[in-house]
Amino acid sequence: MANSMNIDWENLPFGYVKTDYNVRCYYRDGKWGEIEVSSSEHIEMHMAASSLHYGQEAFEGLKAYRCKDGKIRIFRPEANAERLQSTCRGIMMPELSTEKFVEMCKKVIKLNERFIPPYGTGASLYLRPLLIGTGITVGVKPADEYLFVIFVTPVGPYFKGGFKANPYVITRKYDRSAPLGTGIYKVGGNYAASLRAHVEACHGGQYACEFYLDAKEKKYVDEAGAANFFGIKDGAYITPKSTSILPSITNKSLMQLAEDMGMKVERRPIDVDELSEFQEAGACGTAAVISPIERLDDPETGKSYVFGKEPGPWSTKLYHALRAIQLGEAEDVHHWNTVID
Ligand code: PLP
Ligand code: COI
Repeated sequence: MANSMNIDWENLPFGYVKTDYNVRCYYRDGKWGEIEVSSSEHIEMHMAASSLHYGQEAFEGLKAYRCKDGKIRIFRPEANAERLQSTCRGIMMPELSTEKFVEMCKKVIKLNERFIPPYGTGASLYLRPLLIGTGITVGVKPADEYLFVIFVTPVGPYFKGGFKANPYVITRKYDRSAPLGTGIYKVGGNYAASLRAHVEACHGGQYACEFYLDAKEKKYVDEAGAANFFGIKDGAYITPKSTSILPSITNKSLMQLAEDMGMKVERRPIDVDELSEFQEAGACGTAAVISPIERLDDPETGKSYVFGKEPGPWSTKLYHALRAIQLGEAEDVHHWNTVID
Protein backbone atom coordinates (compact mmCIF):
# COMPACT_ATOMS: atom_id res chain seq x y z
CA MET A 1 0.00 0.00 0.00
CA ALA A 2 1.36 3.42 -0.84
CA ASN A 3 1.94 5.92 1.97
CA SER A 4 3.25 9.44 2.35
CA MET A 5 6.83 8.17 2.02
CA ASN A 6 6.02 5.85 -0.86
CA ILE A 7 7.39 2.84 0.95
CA ASP A 8 5.98 -0.44 -0.28
CA TRP A 9 6.01 -2.08 3.19
CA GLU A 10 4.89 -5.52 1.97
CA ASN A 11 7.74 -5.77 -0.54
CA LEU A 12 10.57 -4.20 1.39
CA PRO A 13 13.94 -5.87 0.87
CA PHE A 14 16.51 -6.21 3.68
CA GLY A 15 18.32 -3.02 2.85
CA TYR A 16 19.01 0.58 3.71
CA VAL A 17 16.29 3.22 3.70
CA LYS A 18 17.20 6.74 4.71
CA THR A 19 15.37 7.71 7.89
CA ASP A 20 15.18 10.99 9.79
CA TYR A 21 17.68 10.58 12.65
CA ASN A 22 20.37 8.46 14.23
CA VAL A 23 21.69 8.62 17.79
CA ARG A 24 25.32 8.82 18.81
CA CYS A 25 27.52 8.72 21.86
CA TYR A 26 31.25 9.41 22.04
CA TYR A 27 33.82 7.86 24.36
CA ARG A 28 36.55 10.33 25.21
CA ASP A 29 38.86 10.89 28.18
CA GLY A 30 37.98 7.52 29.59
CA LYS A 31 34.19 7.97 29.71
CA TRP A 32 31.03 7.86 27.61
CA GLY A 33 29.41 11.25 26.92
CA GLU A 34 25.83 12.40 26.49
CA ILE A 35 23.47 10.94 23.88
CA GLU A 36 23.39 13.08 20.75
CA VAL A 37 20.82 13.15 17.95
CA SER A 38 22.02 13.53 14.37
CA SER A 39 20.29 13.87 11.03
CA SER A 40 23.49 13.24 9.09
CA GLU A 41 24.02 9.87 7.44
CA HIS A 42 27.78 10.35 7.60
CA ILE A 43 30.44 10.11 10.26
CA GLU A 44 33.65 12.03 10.20
CA MET A 45 36.73 10.32 11.46
CA HIS A 46 40.50 10.48 11.41
CA MET A 47 42.19 8.45 8.69
CA ALA A 48 44.31 6.69 11.33
CA ALA A 49 41.27 5.53 13.35
CA SER A 50 41.73 2.03 14.81
CA SER A 51 38.48 0.75 13.24
CA LEU A 52 39.81 1.48 9.75
CA HIS A 53 43.19 -0.19 10.20
CA TYR A 54 42.89 -2.85 12.82
CA GLY A 55 39.21 -3.69 12.64
CA GLN A 56 38.27 -2.36 16.07
CA GLU A 57 34.60 -2.46 15.17
CA ALA A 58 31.52 -4.18 16.50
CA PHE A 59 27.89 -4.13 15.53
CA GLU A 60 24.56 -5.46 16.66
CA GLY A 61 21.19 -6.12 15.05
CA LEU A 62 17.76 -6.06 16.64
CA LYS A 63 14.21 -5.31 15.59
CA ALA A 64 11.26 -3.16 16.69
CA TYR A 65 7.72 -4.02 15.71
CA ARG A 66 4.45 -2.13 15.37
CA CYS A 67 2.15 -4.54 17.17
CA LYS A 68 -1.45 -5.62 17.01
CA ASP A 69 -2.43 -3.28 19.88
CA GLY A 70 -0.74 -0.32 18.14
CA LYS A 71 2.18 -0.29 20.57
CA ILE A 72 5.83 -0.53 19.58
CA ARG A 73 7.88 -3.36 21.02
CA ILE A 74 11.63 -4.06 20.87
CA PHE A 75 12.70 -7.68 21.14
CA ARG A 76 15.26 -8.42 23.88
CA PRO A 77 17.43 -5.26 23.63
CA GLU A 78 19.16 -6.11 26.92
CA ALA A 79 20.48 -9.31 25.34
CA ASN A 80 22.00 -7.32 22.47
CA ALA A 81 23.55 -4.88 24.96
CA GLU A 82 25.11 -7.79 26.83
CA ARG A 83 26.43 -9.38 23.66
CA LEU A 84 27.96 -6.05 22.63
CA GLN A 85 29.62 -5.85 26.05
CA SER A 86 31.05 -9.32 25.49
CA THR A 87 32.32 -8.23 22.05
CA CYS A 88 33.89 -5.16 23.65
CA ARG A 89 35.79 -7.35 26.09
CA GLY A 90 36.81 -9.55 23.16
CA ILE A 91 38.41 -6.79 21.10
CA MET A 92 39.39 -4.37 23.84
CA MET A 93 36.78 -1.65 23.46
CA PRO A 94 35.07 0.20 26.33
CA GLU A 95 31.76 -1.34 27.36
CA LEU A 96 28.55 0.64 27.08
CA SER A 97 26.01 0.05 29.86
CA THR A 98 22.84 -1.89 29.14
CA GLU A 99 20.87 1.09 30.39
CA LYS A 100 22.44 3.48 27.90
CA PHE A 101 22.13 0.97 25.05
CA VAL A 102 18.40 0.48 25.69
CA GLU A 103 17.81 4.21 26.18
CA MET A 104 19.43 4.90 22.82
CA CYS A 105 17.36 2.17 21.14
CA LYS A 106 14.17 3.72 22.49
CA LYS A 107 15.21 7.20 21.46
CA VAL A 108 16.14 6.32 17.88
CA ILE A 109 12.90 4.39 17.42
CA LYS A 110 10.76 7.25 18.71
CA LEU A 111 12.60 9.75 16.52
CA ASN A 112 11.91 7.61 13.46
CA GLU A 113 8.44 6.39 14.37
CA ARG A 114 7.06 7.09 10.90
CA PHE A 115 9.43 4.47 9.49
CA ILE A 116 8.13 1.59 11.60
CA PRO A 117 6.30 -0.72 9.20
CA PRO A 118 2.59 -1.12 9.99
CA TYR A 119 1.36 -4.26 11.75
CA GLY A 120 0.47 -7.02 9.34
CA THR A 121 2.93 -6.09 6.61
CA GLY A 122 5.55 -8.66 7.68
CA ALA A 123 8.17 -5.90 7.78
CA SER A 124 9.90 -4.45 10.84
CA LEU A 125 12.25 -1.69 11.90
CA TYR A 126 15.84 -2.98 12.02
CA LEU A 127 18.17 -1.29 14.48
CA ARG A 128 21.84 -1.35 13.65
CA PRO A 129 24.05 -0.35 16.60
CA LEU A 130 27.66 0.23 15.60
CA LEU A 131 30.69 0.77 17.83
CA ILE A 132 33.95 1.91 16.23
CA GLY A 133 37.40 2.89 17.37
CA THR A 134 37.93 6.48 16.26
CA GLY A 135 41.15 7.20 18.15
CA ILE A 136 44.40 7.45 16.20
CA THR A 137 46.43 4.25 16.23
CA VAL A 138 49.42 3.54 14.01
CA GLY A 139 51.03 0.89 16.17
CA VAL A 140 48.71 -2.04 16.90
CA LYS A 141 46.90 -1.20 20.13
CA PRO A 142 43.36 -0.37 21.27
CA ALA A 143 42.18 3.18 20.53
CA ASP A 144 41.46 5.70 23.27
CA GLU A 145 38.39 7.20 21.55
CA TYR A 146 35.23 5.50 20.28
CA LEU A 147 31.91 6.31 18.66
CA PHE A 148 28.71 4.40 19.24
CA VAL A 149 25.92 5.01 16.71
CA ILE A 150 22.49 3.47 16.23
CA PHE A 151 20.69 3.92 12.94
CA VAL A 152 17.46 2.31 11.86
CA THR A 153 16.03 1.10 8.59
CA PRO A 154 12.71 -0.56 7.77
CA VAL A 155 13.32 -4.07 6.45
CA GLY A 156 11.63 -7.06 4.91
CA PRO A 157 12.89 -10.67 4.90
CA TYR A 158 16.62 -11.39 4.77
CA PHE A 159 16.39 -14.65 2.85
CA LYS A 160 14.26 -15.06 -0.26
CA GLY A 161 10.55 -15.43 0.42
CA GLY A 162 10.73 -14.97 4.21
CA PHE A 163 9.38 -18.11 5.85
CA LYS A 164 10.17 -20.27 2.86
CA ALA A 165 12.67 -23.10 2.44
CA ASN A 166 15.90 -22.30 0.57
CA PRO A 167 18.98 -24.37 -0.29
CA TYR A 168 22.33 -23.67 1.47
CA VAL A 169 25.81 -24.85 0.59
CA ILE A 170 28.59 -26.11 2.87
CA THR A 171 31.87 -24.32 2.27
CA ARG A 172 34.95 -26.37 3.16
CA LYS A 173 37.31 -24.10 1.25
CA TYR A 174 37.05 -21.12 3.58
CA ASP A 175 36.68 -20.60 7.32
CA ARG A 176 34.74 -17.76 8.85
CA SER A 177 36.47 -17.82 12.21
CA ALA A 178 39.03 -19.81 14.18
CA PRO A 179 38.08 -22.11 17.09
CA LEU A 180 39.47 -19.66 19.65
CA GLY A 181 39.09 -16.58 17.43
CA THR A 182 36.42 -13.91 17.13
CA GLY A 183 33.49 -16.01 15.88
CA ILE A 184 31.67 -15.59 19.19
CA TYR A 185 31.85 -11.80 18.84
CA LYS A 186 29.88 -9.66 16.44
CA VAL A 187 32.81 -7.95 14.74
CA GLY A 188 32.96 -6.80 11.13
CA GLY A 189 36.09 -8.88 10.49
CA ASN A 190 34.08 -12.12 10.69
CA TYR A 191 31.86 -10.86 7.89
CA ALA A 192 34.81 -9.68 5.80
CA ALA A 193 36.22 -13.20 6.19
CA SER A 194 32.92 -14.63 4.93
CA LEU A 195 32.45 -12.46 1.84
CA ARG A 196 34.38 -14.61 -0.61
CA ALA A 197 32.58 -17.77 0.46
CA HIS A 198 29.30 -15.87 0.39
CA VAL A 199 29.74 -14.48 -3.10
CA GLU A 200 30.86 -17.85 -4.47
CA ALA A 201 27.94 -19.63 -2.77
CA CYS A 202 25.30 -17.17 -3.90
CA HIS A 203 26.70 -16.69 -7.40
CA GLY A 204 24.03 -17.53 -9.92
CA GLY A 205 21.32 -17.49 -7.27
CA GLN A 206 21.58 -21.21 -6.61
CA TYR A 207 21.98 -20.92 -2.83
CA ALA A 208 20.63 -18.58 -0.17
CA CYS A 209 23.81 -18.58 1.90
CA GLU A 210 27.10 -20.31 2.59
CA PHE A 211 27.31 -22.66 5.54
CA TYR A 212 30.34 -23.36 7.76
CA LEU A 213 31.69 -26.44 9.47
CA ASP A 214 34.10 -26.15 12.40
CA ALA A 215 37.44 -24.79 11.19
CA LYS A 216 39.68 -27.30 12.97
CA GLU A 217 38.31 -30.67 11.89
CA LYS A 218 35.60 -29.87 9.32
CA LYS A 219 33.61 -32.49 11.16
CA TYR A 220 30.98 -30.49 13.06
CA VAL A 221 28.23 -28.12 12.01
CA ASP A 222 28.86 -24.46 12.87
CA GLU A 223 26.47 -21.93 11.34
CA ALA A 224 25.41 -20.04 8.23
CA GLY A 225 27.14 -16.80 7.27
CA ALA A 226 24.51 -14.63 8.93
CA ALA A 227 22.45 -16.99 11.09
CA ASN A 228 22.68 -19.90 13.55
CA PHE A 229 21.62 -23.44 12.71
CA PHE A 230 19.07 -25.74 14.30
CA GLY A 231 17.84 -29.19 13.31
CA ILE A 232 14.81 -31.19 14.35
CA LYS A 233 15.26 -34.89 15.02
CA ASP A 234 12.34 -36.95 16.30
CA GLY A 235 10.77 -33.91 17.96
CA ALA A 236 14.03 -32.68 19.55
CA TYR A 237 15.47 -29.21 18.87
CA ILE A 238 19.20 -29.62 18.29
CA THR A 239 21.63 -26.75 17.85
CA PRO A 240 25.46 -26.65 17.72
CA LYS A 241 27.70 -25.97 20.68
CA SER A 242 30.83 -24.42 19.25
CA THR A 243 33.49 -21.90 20.22
CA SER A 244 33.34 -20.21 16.83
CA ILE A 245 29.68 -19.30 16.33
CA LEU A 246 27.76 -16.20 17.34
CA PRO A 247 25.56 -16.69 20.43
CA SER A 248 22.28 -15.93 18.68
CA ILE A 249 19.52 -14.29 20.69
CA THR A 250 16.92 -15.74 18.32
CA ASN A 251 18.32 -19.23 18.81
CA LYS A 252 18.32 -18.78 22.59
CA SER A 253 14.67 -17.70 22.38
CA LEU A 254 13.76 -20.64 20.15
CA MET A 255 15.42 -23.06 22.58
CA GLN A 256 13.17 -21.65 25.31
CA LEU A 257 10.05 -21.81 23.12
CA ALA A 258 10.91 -25.37 22.10
CA GLU A 259 11.20 -26.31 25.76
CA ASP A 260 7.87 -24.58 26.46
CA MET A 261 6.33 -26.76 23.74
CA GLY A 262 7.65 -29.87 25.47
CA MET A 263 10.40 -30.52 22.95
CA LYS A 264 13.72 -31.91 24.06
CA VAL A 265 16.41 -29.28 23.56
CA GLU A 266 20.02 -30.26 22.91
CA ARG A 267 22.93 -27.87 22.48
CA ARG A 268 25.91 -29.99 21.56
CA PRO A 269 28.42 -30.64 18.78
CA ILE A 270 26.59 -31.88 15.67
CA ASP A 271 28.58 -34.24 13.48
CA VAL A 272 27.98 -33.34 9.84
CA ASP A 273 26.93 -36.96 9.17
CA GLU A 274 24.10 -36.56 11.67
CA LEU A 275 22.46 -34.06 9.30
CA SER A 276 21.04 -37.03 7.40
CA GLU A 277 19.00 -37.93 10.51
CA PHE A 278 17.26 -34.55 10.83
CA GLN A 279 13.71 -34.24 9.55
CA GLU A 280 13.83 -30.41 9.56
CA ALA A 281 16.52 -27.76 9.63
CA GLY A 282 16.58 -24.00 9.78
CA ALA A 283 18.73 -20.90 9.88
CA CYS A 284 17.76 -18.50 12.66
CA GLY A 285 18.63 -14.94 13.57
CA THR A 286 17.24 -11.44 13.89
CA ALA A 287 17.42 -10.81 10.16
CA ALA A 288 16.63 -14.42 9.18
CA VAL A 289 13.93 -15.00 11.88
CA ILE A 290 13.52 -18.69 10.98
CA SER A 291 14.53 -19.48 7.43
CA PRO A 292 13.85 -23.15 6.79
CA ILE A 293 16.66 -25.01 5.01
CA GLU A 294 15.46 -26.97 1.99
CA ARG A 295 18.74 -28.83 1.66
CA LEU A 296 22.40 -28.50 2.54
CA ASP A 297 24.71 -29.43 -0.31
CA ASP A 298 28.28 -30.50 0.40
CA PRO A 299 29.88 -30.24 -3.06
CA GLU A 300 33.26 -31.49 -1.94
CA THR A 301 31.90 -34.81 -0.67
CA GLY A 302 29.06 -34.92 -3.18
CA LYS A 303 26.54 -35.37 -0.36
CA SER A 304 23.27 -33.50 -0.07
CA TYR A 305 21.22 -33.38 3.12
CA VAL A 306 17.59 -32.86 2.17
CA PHE A 307 15.02 -31.45 4.62
CA GLY A 308 12.18 -30.59 2.26
CA LYS A 309 10.84 -27.86 0.01
CA GLU A 310 8.20 -26.84 2.55
CA PRO A 311 8.79 -25.63 6.11
CA GLY A 312 8.38 -28.58 8.51
CA PRO A 313 5.75 -28.74 11.28
CA TRP A 314 8.07 -27.96 14.22
CA SER A 315 9.79 -25.09 12.40
CA THR A 316 6.38 -23.69 11.53
CA LYS A 317 5.18 -23.93 15.13
CA LEU A 318 8.33 -22.30 16.45
CA TYR A 319 8.19 -19.55 13.84
CA HIS A 320 4.60 -18.65 14.72
CA ALA A 321 5.28 -18.79 18.46
CA LEU A 322 8.24 -16.40 18.12
CA ARG A 323 6.43 -14.01 15.79
CA ALA A 324 3.35 -13.96 18.02
CA ILE A 325 5.45 -12.73 20.95
CA GLN A 326 7.37 -10.20 18.86
CA LEU A 327 4.14 -8.80 17.41
CA GLY A 328 2.36 -8.63 20.76
CA GLU A 329 -0.19 -11.25 19.73
CA ALA A 330 0.76 -13.75 22.43
CA GLU A 331 1.51 -13.26 26.09
CA ASP A 332 5.14 -12.35 26.64
CA VAL A 333 5.64 -14.89 29.42
CA HIS A 334 9.43 -14.59 29.43
CA HIS A 335 9.37 -10.76 29.52
CA TRP A 336 11.40 -10.46 26.34
CA ASN A 337 9.76 -7.33 24.94
CA THR A 338 10.42 -3.72 25.84
CA VAL A 339 7.31 -1.67 25.15
CA ILE A 340 7.96 1.88 23.99
CA ASP A 341 5.68 4.42 25.62
N1 PLP B 1 25.13 -15.86 13.44
C1 PLP B 1 25.63 -14.83 12.73
C2 PLP B 1 26.93 -15.03 12.06
C3 PLP B 1 24.92 -13.63 12.63
O1 PLP B 1 25.39 -12.62 11.91
C4 PLP B 1 23.68 -13.51 13.29
C5 PLP B 1 22.95 -12.26 13.25
O2 PLP B 1 22.96 -11.49 14.14
C6 PLP B 1 23.20 -14.60 14.02
C7 PLP B 1 23.95 -15.76 14.07
C8 PLP B 1 21.90 -14.52 14.73
O3 PLP B 1 21.99 -13.82 15.95
P1 PLP B 1 20.72 -13.08 16.53
O4 PLP B 1 19.66 -14.09 16.67
O5 PLP B 1 21.16 -12.57 17.86
O6 PLP B 1 20.38 -12.01 15.58
C1 COI C 1 21.23 -9.90 12.13
O1 COI C 1 20.52 -10.88 12.02
O2 COI C 1 20.94 -8.93 12.85
C2 COI C 1 22.50 -9.81 11.44
O3 COI C 1 23.32 -9.07 11.87
C3 COI C 1 22.71 -10.66 10.26
C4 COI C 1 23.34 -9.98 9.08
C5 COI C 1 22.51 -8.93 8.46
C6 COI C 1 24.75 -9.60 9.32
